[in-house]
Amino acid sequence: MASSTSPFTAPASIASSVPPMPGLPLIGNLLEFRRDRLGLQDRAAKLGPITRLSLAHIPVYVVTCADLAHQILVDEAASFKKSPGLQFLMPLLGDGLLTAEGGTHKRHRKLLAPAFAPKRLAAYGDVMVGETLTQVASWRRGQRIDIAQEMMAMTLAIAGRTMFGADVRRDAPRVAEGLELAMRSMIESVTSPVQLGYRWPLPRHVRMRRAVAMLDQVVYRLIADGRRLGTDRGDVLSMLLLARDEDGTGLSDKQVRDEVMTLMLAGHETTANALTWSWYELGRNPGVLARLEQEIAEVVGDRRMTADDLPAMPWTAAVVDEAMRLHPPAYMMGRQALRDVTIGAHRIPERSTLLVYIRGIHRRDDYFPSPLAFKPERMLPEPKKARPRHHYLPFGAGPRVCIGSHFALMEAQLCLATMVQRARLRPLSTHVEAEPLITLRPRGGLPALVDDCR
Ligand code: HEM
Repeated sequence: MASSTSPFTAPASIASSVPPMPGLPLIGNLLEFRRDRLGLQDRAAKLGPITRLSLAHIPVYVVTCADLAHQILVDEAASFKKSPGLQFLMPLLGDGLLTAEGGTHKRHRKLLAPAFAPKRLAAYGDVMVGETLTQVASWRRGQRIDIAQEMMAMTLAIAGRTMFGADVRRDAPRVAEGLELAMRSMIESVTSPVQLGYRWPLPRHVRMRRAVAMLDQVVYRLIADGRRLGTDRGDVLSMLLLARDEDGTGLSDKQVRDEVMTLMLAGHETTANALTWSWYELGRNPGVLARLEQEIAEVVGDRRMTADDLPAMPWTAAVVDEAMRLHPPAYMMGRQALRDVTIGAHRIPERSTLLVYIRGIHRRDDYFPSPLAFKPERMLPEPKKARPRHHYLPFGAGPRVCIGSHFALMEAQLCLATMVQRARLRPLSTHVEAEPLITLRPRGGLPALVDDCR
């Protein structure tokens, strides 16, 4: 990848002890990386726990071993920063929690943590159920829907109310289009052999600017509305607007905007994908669906569900967990070495890029026998306890672990159970391909028939 403006810089040396992935002269695995990133990483996973790809002259290490992943994300976390690829999202996310590093990251994490504390989360459960009921109410028996789109609209509405204290349903198409444009622009930038600074009017940069403008319009409106009200309404935005440093200064609109944009990107698309993949697997596994219906009937019956029901619903939790094992919405995490660092038996040189391939780890047959089979029973409390925790890491690990993991699990379980209680959806595809944008989604969506709803 050529250019002085590229965030990807070749480290001074390679870790020659790491087995290389066969590739073409000069460009190595770059073409495959552009065309089929998932397939390439799957093949890398077959070569061993850590494999070296070559993207032109840049080495990239794919890690599919839970112990090595734990070392990178937890034990040696201070020796790494986030992947340089994330820089392409900077116009969108700025210095939000996902992209911030060092002291800024620590400060922002502390600032946001209270918003995700269990006491605060408990209040969100009712919104989650309510928005699910609204979504189900919009369906008609015999209607054909795209589950992927429906889940996006629903989780965006939930994010709108819980995080921004606003009704953003009417913004859903604009937000979905903006986020998709931004993600496609980022992927093009990461995989392009030509790296030029953001000020260059390349089509992908123009697309990113358009995406940022579309989303900024929504986000700055939410901030202005929040400032006008000026009280803590229980949502994340009003808390951020009232937050003060020790010296009494608050956050600027730009700082709040970065966090809001980050939460919008990180907080609704991932959960929507987890729900879509859950439906996909339920469509392929009627026995699992029947047991889910039975659990919901026994615990909840016909009444409106609440978060207090969840501890009595292990099968619901296991279905969501197993869907995220096979189809982790955040399917990989990138890191760059800040210094020479030893991982397992390998000396990884400073500035090397590593990809912790979550999907590869989740599909190892020594961690999960018959890994391609959808078996929620392996996610029930007993087998879960018997397994090393770090074999399953849909939310990452260490200091950069997902801040919204409890929020996401509660949301996914409440939404899935409420939908199953009130509707019968029949996914029309039993085999869909996964499309790796920043998150993993079904390519072309997930068409389904509404067989019943009430
Ligand atoms: C099923 C849903 C979700 C999945 C699979 C998921 C996955 C992840 C993963 C793997 C990371 C770590 C990234 C890394 O280490 O490079 C992460 C970070 C993050 N997630 Fe989530 N996430 C989900 C839902 C959410 C929700 C609902 C929110 C907010 C409401 C959220 C906000 C964030 C933020 C802000 C970070 C950055 C944390 C930091 O760096 O300190 N996520 N997520």
